[in-house]
Amino acid sequence: MNATEWKEKLSAIRGSFSVSIEKKPAENPEALELHYLGRKGELALLLRDLKDIPLEERKPLGALGNAAKQEMEAKLAELKGSAGAAGPVVKSDLDLTLPGWPYPKGSLHPLTHTMNRLAEGFLKLGFTMSDGPLIEDDYHNFEALNFPPFHPARDMQDTFYVDAKDQAGKFMLLRTHTSPVQIRAMEKQEPPIRVFHTGRVFRSEAVDASHSFAFHQIEGLYVDKGVSMADLKWTVDAFMKDLFGSGVKTRFNPSYFPFVEPGAEVDMSCVFCKGGHNSAGRCPVCKGTGWLEVMGAGLVHPNVLKSAKYDPEKWSGFAFGAGIERFAMLLYGISDMRMLYENDLRVLKQVQ
Ligand code: PHE
Repeated sequence: MNATEWKEKLSAIRGSFSVSIEKKPAENPEALELHYLGRKGELALLLRDLKDIPLEERKPLGALGNAAKQEMEAKLAELKGSAGAAGPVVKSDLDLTLPGWPYPKGSLHPLTHTMNRLAEGFLKLGFTMSDGPLIEDDYHNFEALNFPPFHPARDMQDTFYVDAKDQAGKFMLLRTHTSPVQIRAMEKQEPPIRVFHTGRVFRSEAVDASHSFAFHQIEGLYVDKGVSMADLKWTVDAFMKDLFGSGVKTRFNPSYFPFVEPGAEVDMSCVFCKGGHNSAGRCPVCKGTGWLEVMGAGLVHPNVLKSAKYDPEKWSGFAFGAGIERFAMLLYGISDMRMLYENDLRVLKQVQ
């Protein structure tokens, strides 16, 4: 390249630079800077070509090149400045010293809260948490729990069936109680075993103040050597006292569930009137009896132990199950179960 060519090239670069810098809307100044003045930019490369030009001609060309560079730098600085000035926030009304907006905090649902409290009670007694599916097979929900096919006790629990069959060709169902978790836990583990489970169950029932087609239960199971009714009574009593306070009493009435023998229904003393009558007369919660029925319980039936391949001659155990909604209603003084499902914030906010 000779001196003339070099000068022509320089003016071409200056020409295209001024076209770019005048453009409306303005081009990005950083990109222009890189393109013309960057280490591999057009002007930098041209200045490098000076070395091929004889020394005596080089000097004035170098001066021209530097002048062009300064001019470009000045124009770019101007462009950057104007971009800044036209930018969105220069001055604002934002006052960082003002207090912030209140930030609404979520809380646990009363049922979740109750389940957590029940779980804590069980963990304290050395039980571990166990799990099972909501869609069960006939075997775990009924048969292994000593409900033979066509046994009338199956009608005690109006079952929702699912349009799918299990391996035995029987319709799957929505579990009607948490007791199938007893079987699942025993299938996974050799005795001794001490487990509990909280979760949802389903029954084809009309909804009213104390019934729902989907509700929650807690289940407890303990199998070891020499477990007796006395162990069950102590555990249930300790558990209820932990939940409702040491003043609470429990009592057992004989009852029937196919998977326990003997079977019992557990009552606790009414937490509202503490004895059947309050100053306003008959207590509406316990209907004046002084007692509330809160759970089913009993010693694990030998047939159930056999289903889980536990030897009933060697091992014995107890099981109990209760509705969690009932506990939540008693703990929080809720009189209609439907309040637990409507998710009215005025109710939810009361439990923190
Ligand atoms: N599964 C029974 C029910 O849903 C409750 C229960 C559990 C009874 C364990 C006895 C032992 O009614």
